[in-house]
Amino acid sequence: MTSSEPLFKRVAVIGLGLIGGSLACAIRRNGLAGTVVGADHRSEELQLGKELGVIDQAASTVSDAVRGADLVVLAVPVRATRAVLEQIRPALEPDAILTDVGSTKSSFVTDVEAVFGGLSPLVIPGHPIAGSEKSGIRAANPELFANHKVILTPPDNVSQPHLARLQGLWEGCGATVLTMSVAYHDEVLAATSHLPHLIAFSLVDTLAGEDENMDIFRYAAGGFRDFTRIAASDPVMWHDIFLSNRDAVLRVIDHFTHDLEQLRTAIANQDSATLLRVFSRAKAAREHFSKMLSGQAYVTNNSEKQVTFRLQPGGAITGDIRVPGDKSMSHRSIMLGALADGVTEVKGFLEGEDSLATLQAFRDMGVTIEGPDDGFVRIHGVGMHGLQAPRGPLYLGNSGTAMRLFAGLLAAQPFDSELTGDASLSGRPMGRVADPLRAMGAVIDTAEGGRPPLKIRGGQKLSGIHYEMPVASAQVKSCLLLAGLYAEGSTSVTEPAPTRDHTERMLAGFGYHVHRDGATASVSGGGKLTATNIDVPADISSSAFFLVAASIAPGSDLILRHVGMNPTRVGVINILNQMGANIEILDEREIGGEPVADLRVRSAELQGIDIPEDQVPLAIDEFPVLFIAAACANGRTVLRGAEELRVKESDRIQVMADGLAALGVETTVTPDGIIIDGGQTIGGGTVNSHGDHRIAMSFAVASLRAAGDITVNDCANVATSFPGFVELAHGTGINISAEGAE
Ligand code: S3P
Repeated sequence: MTSSEPLFKRVAVIGLGLIGGSLACAIRRNGLAGTVVGADHRSEELQLGKELGVIDQAASTVSDAVRGADLVVLAVPVRATRAVLEQIRPALEPDAILTDVGSTKSSFVTDVEAVFGGLSPLVIPGHPIAGSEKSGIRAANPELFANHKVILTPPDNVSQPHLARLQGLWEGCGATVLTMSVAYHDEVLAATSHLPHLIAFSLVDTLAGEDENMDIFRYAAGGFRDFTRIAASDPVMWHDIFLSNRDAVLRVIDHFTHDLEQLRTAIANQDSATLLRVFSRAKAAREHFSKMLSGQAYVTNNSEKQVTFRLQPGGAITGDIRVPGDKSMSHRSIMLGALADGVTEVKGFLEGEDSLATLQAFRDMGVTIEGPDDGFVRIHGVGMHGLQAPRGPLYLGNSGTAMRLFAGLLAAQPFDSELTGDASLSGRPMGRVADPLRAMGAVIDTAEGGRPPLKIRGGQKLSGIHYEMPVASAQVKSCLLLAGLYAEGSTSVTEPAPTRDHTERMLAGFGYHVHRDGATASVSGGGKLTATNIDVPADISSSAFFLVAASIAPGSDLILRHVGMNPTRVGVINILNQMGANIEILDEREIGGEPVADLRVRSAELQGIDIPEDQVPLAIDEFPVLFIAAACANGRTVLRGAEELRVKESDRIQVMADGLAALGVETTVTPDGIIIDGGQTIGGGTVNSHGDHRIAMSFAVASLRAAGDITVNDCANVATSFPGFVELAHGTGINISAEGAE
């Protein structure tokens, strides 16, 4: 076929209503057929079709339309299908594709089988998920299918070339084509289209029947209008759909009626917890509708978004800012709040994708969580044994912390669960938590090499163990302590070097005793958590970008407010100070069991240093930006004992070295660290962040001392830990813009 030849010679559209008319129009407009011929038993509609230019030819009978056609589209009310098929049969060409646009697919298949005695490989049922409450050919719109989905439900023996042509036709009209089975289509549509129409018809009818209906309609505001728009749809068409998809529709009506009854009972009994749980779960689901449609629960799969940072060199950092809340504490506040007795209120919660994944996972396990609303979250705890089985896998996006801590918690639940994540998380080691959990009696399957997904078998009795951690990991420690809350006896974890202790501090805040003996933390199982209020400080890991930015950019003077100063997190300040940074710690205070301070940072001449190994776990997340500081320092900086950096969201040693090399800065990579000679010119260039949020932000900081423009690719994941980074960075003086951001 040459490119100028249309996909079909002659398309017969039987039924010139909204969908048939729009399709005919779209085929003509897009040159997808030599001739579009229409048939309709309503002669005025047919006439109008010709006059409005919707069709090329008006056929006087259905068989006239079908004769010679290589594509026949039925666009008649579902219940008229069989009669029309009878008329088509004698005239249908042997090589013609027969399709339809009806809302129920099993009834079409049944009708075809009844009339033709079977389903030929050229019968391809279809359903465009597009429409409007308007009906008739006057409403025909060639754009109706653009950016909409069309579902095809081909039989198993479908002719693939014919399927491809039909798919091409819909794509030519601007639609995206999906294929699925007839039964699945009918179930899905019963829930997503048929039930809402039924409710709209019923609601409007009920209200119209009330005595005060005039008043009700007069005062009906936006909500009523929005909700009932579809009650103006074609009654005959919908009558046919409900009768044709009877079984699937009955199932979903029963489900809905049951849930409505539950809400009725909750209102009658003043049961606020149930009402809030249902409403907040629904609100979150509605807000994340488009994300759910991409198949990823409520959390965006960031690898599908392409965000690029563009940076112009130079600038000084000034201002008075507060970066978003601490990620580690935000995760833990939701986890412990959910398991507590009572209501926990959290201020300063990080509304980043990682902690939102944790929040959503608890909603999926039946916990009512209000918010987040400007960092405020209210968690209605369900108690240690109140979680419910989630309906499907818990998708944790990019978050290693969520997956590892959940592993401990879920190993002790009575139900099975599965933990999944994005491409980066799916490559990260989980054996470090699965192995000791198994030693406690947990049953966990991982993919090859101990990678996600984690499949956790519920109903296991856990026993406390003593565990000497081979790596200094707060995630492993926290995972085991959480499992230990449910285990028989005592669970103790010894760390080879101090790691962040937010779990221990927060457990204590919730009234759970954690015993500390040197490098060992232990809990006894069987206790309970009591709700408390939590004030999450600004994340020192996010502050780190600005500590380095203001240090390396001449003429800078910046205040960072309310920064979390937990001694297990301040490695970045210790290291920068040792390099000669000018960081003042102001107004040190303790809030909710965590030290907090304001920081003033001014530019300074930095010196290269040998980074003390004991600082590595205390600055584990800050090394990417510390490498930028090292590149801007005088002399050599050497990092050792940091092999853990290779299994973070990316291999942070190699990815940083590659990024620096792309800007003309040579470094020496070692198995457990890096050697950076400062004072080399940072040139312009393009850096690949490998989807790692901290790499992307580090190179944004590097621009302050660069000689040329820097482009950083693959930056969408900055939203996992630092929503609003670009605006905040720009406000302080970094010449940054983002392309492709939502
Ligand atoms: C975290 C612990 C650290 C850190 C991560 C958050 C936590 O990981 O890198 O960003 O919240 O417990 P490891 O425990 O793997 O070192």
